[in-house]
Amino acid sequence: MGVREISVGGKNLEIHELENVCDTVTGRVLTGSWIWDSALILSQWMMNTAQSRSQPEFDLTGKTVIELGAGAAGLPGLTAAMLGASRVVLTDIEPLILGLSRNVEANNLDHVVHVRKLVWGTDESLGEFDVVLMSDVFFDPDQMGALARTLKSACGDLTRIWAATEIRPWTGNCLAALADQGFGLVELSDPVCVDLTGPGPKQQSSSFAVFSLVKQSDAGHVPPAFSDFWG
Ligand SMILES: C[S@@+](CC[C@H](N)C(=O)[O-])C[C@H]1O[C@@H](n2cnc3c(N)ncnc32)[C@H](O)[C@@H]1O
Repeated sequence: MGVREISVGGKNLEIHELENVCDTVTGRVLTGSWIWDSALILSQWMMNTAQSRSQPEFDLTGKTVIELGAGAAGLPGLTAAMLGASRVVLTDIEPLILGLSRNVEANNLDHVVHVRKLVWGTDESLGEFDVVLMSDVFFDPDQMGALARTLKSACGDLTRIWAATEIRPWTGNCLAALADQGFGLVELSDPVCVDLTGPGPKQQSSSFAVFSLVKQSDAGHVPPAFSDFWG
């Protein structure tokens, strides 16, 4: 896959993608080996909101940040570090950890950004953070219970959870599964339509959205049925 240069706040991030890192059990290539378009969209959205300065709740200066399912790239978490976060932890499954570390080092961010293995749903907790980032992790409704458990261990009362996703036929099922676990949804961006640049054969354009997950007791307003919005 090689190396990509991605501009963040006037500086370039150097992102190394992995080739052929396979699951030792299934033999399938790990999806976190490369950057997904959702990561680019979340990173861009964070830059835009940080630069607009009209919404202080999106200011990352001095914040602690964890990225779940960061893949080998960790682009949203690295972007948070570039935007002033005081501590960032990039997490994913073990086979992607070396790739994440390489990207932290390549961008000289190791004084702020740390890398940890974190499998959703396990007892392992890395403590509470100000902000949780996720991109393209809503692909398997059966995994959402485990993800919700990890989210709860990373969230205090004031934690903000920002997620970007491609809107696929099963996205609504994933969000409904998270709602069952107590997380509501507030959309932060209008759906963005882009030509897909990711791996695999060139596909048609697709829709993406950035939103905040909110623990339902704090949500104020929770959409009544995700399937109404997400198909
Ligand atoms: C589609 S990839 C997205 C990678 C990256 N966030 C991006 O947008 O470029 C989904 C990521 O979720 C991670 N993931 C899936 N299930 C997981 C689990 N149970 N525990 C931890 N990470 C998981 C995968 O390893 C993979 O890196």
